[in-house]
Amino acid sequence: MKIAIIGATGLVGQTMLKILDEHGFTKNNEIILYASEKSSGTILSTETKSYIVRKLAHDTIEKDLTFALFSAGSSVSQLWAKEFIKNGTIVIDNSNAFRRNKNVPLVVPEINANEINLKTKLISNPNCSTILLSLPIHTINKVYKIKRIIVSTYQATSGAGKRGIDDLINNTTNKFPYKIQNNLIPEIGTTLSNGYTLEEDKLSYEIKKIINKSSFTLSATAVRVPIKNCHSESVNIEFYSPININNIIKILSSTKGISCSNNISLPMPLLSDGKDEIFVGRVRKDYSTKNAINLFLCGDNIRKGAALNAIEIMEYILKTYY
Ligand SMILES: NC(=O)c1ccc[n+]([C@@H]2O[C@H](COP(=O)([O-])OP(=O)(O)OC[C@H]3O[C@@H](n4cnc5c(N)ncnc54)[C@H](OP(=O)(O)O)[C@@H]3O)[C@@H](O)[C@H]2O)c1
Repeated sequence: MKIAIIGATGLVGQTMLKILDEHGFTKNNEIILYASEKSSGTILSTETKSYIVRKLAHDTIEKDLTFALFSAGSSVSQLWAKEFIKNGTIVIDNSNAFRRNKNVPLVVPEINANEINLKTKLISNPNCSTILLSLPIHTINKVYKIKRIIVSTYQATSGAGKRGIDDLINNTTNKFPYKIQNNLIPEIGTTLSNGYTLEEDKLSYEIKKIINKSSFTLSATAVRVPIKNCHSESVNIEFYSPININNIIKILSSTKGISCSNNISLPMPLLSDGKDEIFVGRVRKDYSTKNAINLFLCGDNIRKGAALNAIEIMEYILKTYY
C-alpha cells in the first residue's frame, strides 16, 4: 500500500509520519511525502528510514496511492484533493476546506466512524479544539443529556503551525497580529459579522456535526496563549435533568482515549505534550445554577487534535473496508 502525506514538513505532517512509524505503517508500505516547492529534496527521517520530500505538482503525484493525508492548509486541499480522488485515492483532509460540506463526513472515530462511507473518497478531520472537546462531551451526553455548553479555549501557538511557534520563540508578529510573549490574544481567526471568530464558529458548528442529533447549544471564546504545544479548554456544561458528578467522573475515567484522574493530577500542557489521550480534570458541580458542572481539559493539538485522529480514521477504513 502507498500512503502520501501532503504538508509533510509541517508540524502536523511530521507528526503524521512519526505516528505512521509508531503504528507500524512504515515497515511494509511505501510512504510518499509532499510539501511546497521550497521543501523539495528535504530529507525527513523516522527511527529506521529516510524519505525525500517531493514538490506537490501534477507530475509528482503517484496514481496508485491508497490514502493521501492532507495537512497543508485549506487552499492546498481545495486545489489538489480532487486530483488525488480522481485517481481512486482516499483523501483524509486536515484542513477547514470541506468540513461543512454535507456529503463529507467529519469524523472523530470513537464517536462517528460509522458515518464514513467511501462514496466520496473524502473524509474531513475536525479542528483541533473540536476533537479534544468532542470526545468528553460525547461520553457525558450519552448518559446525561446536555442542554448547553460554554467553553473557553487556551490554544497553544503550535495550533497556528510552524510560524506560530516561531512568533512565540522570537517575539515576532509574522503569524499572529500581536506579540504573543507575555500576552494572550482573545481572537483566533477572522471576526465574523456576529462578533464570534472563525475558530469559535468552527467549534460550535463542528461539534454538532460530529455528535449527530445533539440537542445542545454551544458558546465559545477562543484565546491564543503563550504556550508552545497543547490546547486547554475550560468547559461549563448544563444538563436537562439532575446529574451524578461521581458517575460522570467514572464514565470519563473508563473511556478509551480519555484520562480523567479528578483531584489526583491536573490536565496541563506540560503533561499532555506528546500524549495520545485527552486529559480531563477539575470535574466539579457548578453551584451557580441547577444541573451543571465545570471541567478542564487539555490535549496535544498536533497529535489527537490533528495527526493521530487522521491516522485513526485511516485505520478504521482499513479495518472495515480492506
Ligand atoms: N497545528 C495544529 O494544531 C492543527 C490542528 C488541526 C488541523 N491543522 C491543520 O493542518 C494543516 C497544517 O497545519 P500545520 O500546523 O502542520 O502547519 P505548518 O506547520 O505551517 O505546515 C504547513 C505545511 O503545508 C505545506 N505547504 C504549504 N503550502 C504548500 C503548497 N502550496 N503545496 C504543498 N505543500 C504546501 C508546508 O510545506 P513547506 O514546509 O514546504 O512550506 C508544510 O509542510 C492546516 O490546514 C491546519 O489548519 C493544524
